Amino acid sequence: MTDPSPPLIEIHGLTKTYGSHPVLDGLDLTLPPGVHALLGPNGAGKTTLIKILSTLLPHDGGSVRVLGLDPRHERRRLQGMISLTGQFAAVDGALTSLENLEMLGRLFGLPAASARSRGLALLERFGLADSRDTRASTLSGGMRRKLDIAAGLISRPRLVFLDEPTTGLDTRSRRVLWEEIGTLAAEGTSVLLTTQYLEEADALAEQIHVLHDGRIVAGGTAEELKELVGGAVVHVHDADGTVLEELPTTGTTADLAARLAHAAARWPEATASVHRPTLDDVFLHLTEAPRAPVAARA
Ligand SMILES: Nc1ncnc2c1ncn2[C@@H]1O[C@H](COP(=O)(O)OP(=O)(O)O)[C@@H](O)[C@H]1O
Ligand SMILES: [Mg+2]
Repeated sequence: MTDPSPPLIEIHGLTKTYGSHPVLDGLDLTLPPGVHALLGPNGAGKTTLIKILSTLLPHDGGSVRVLGLDPRHERRRLQGMISLTGQFAAVDGALTSLENLEMLGRLFGLPAASARSRGLALLERFGLADSRDTRASTLSGGMRRKLDIAAGLISRPRLVFLDEPTTGLDTRSRRVLWEEIGTLAAEGTSVLLTTQYLEEADALAEQIHVLHDGRIVAGGTAEELKELVGGAVVHVHDADGTVLEELPTTGTTADLAARLAHAAARWPEATASVHRPTLDDVFLHLTEAPRAPVAARA
């Protein structure tokens, strides 16, 4: 069976250096269509990678394909298929919500009436209909971010880059935005979002890749990543909560019964609980080592 559609993203040996400071250092990453999170702390190179993928920044070495196209040499074609929103907003604060969307629609070649109707539909969809005549500069942070994402959808892109879409938002606005991003995915638009929040990657993405030291050091579903640090363990603890013993378990009832029988014979007064690795455990595990081995399954 052959699959004629190219991967969403295909990167081999990507390098990017600012001055003498290598930011991306032989990065490999292949992603199928879908919703993906690129996870990394501040300064990891997330924005640099997104800029390269979205044609805004030339890379130094290696090969890069986005939707089968080379961002350096097929720039215009690729720009027609993608959108980028996030840290550097395209929204003009002096214009109203609707004017912003209409203007972008016109930029993408829509006739005035279509730009307006598409703008109105997007405002409706993002719960911004009541602020259609509000200047963008006076919108709340969360609403402005939604308008920014709506603006990116005017051109009906196949792939949307969201660079830290919820950074700086309060918890409630973050959750509202998560819902919008989830809807986007359900409509079949591919998404590559960057985030520093494990919880966000877990909530939104089918596949999570971890960027560290200029490379992708791990990738998979949240569950697969958790398996990297080992499976569940039974913690046997005393009344103060001090862990007396840690017993690996497959988590089946039979295995748990056997572990608990063992623990009960030794510590009849102790309490027991099952601890499953969290994404925080994974992140620490991967980034504490100077350069963790590549465990990516792209
Ligand atoms: N234009 C630039 N010139 C020099 N250094 C830069 C430039 N942009 C980013 N950097 C540096 O590259 C590293 C990665 O930055 P960035 O891609 O913005 O990371 P992230 O988005 O993950 O926070 C950081 O150390 C940053 O200081
Ligand atoms: Mg960034």
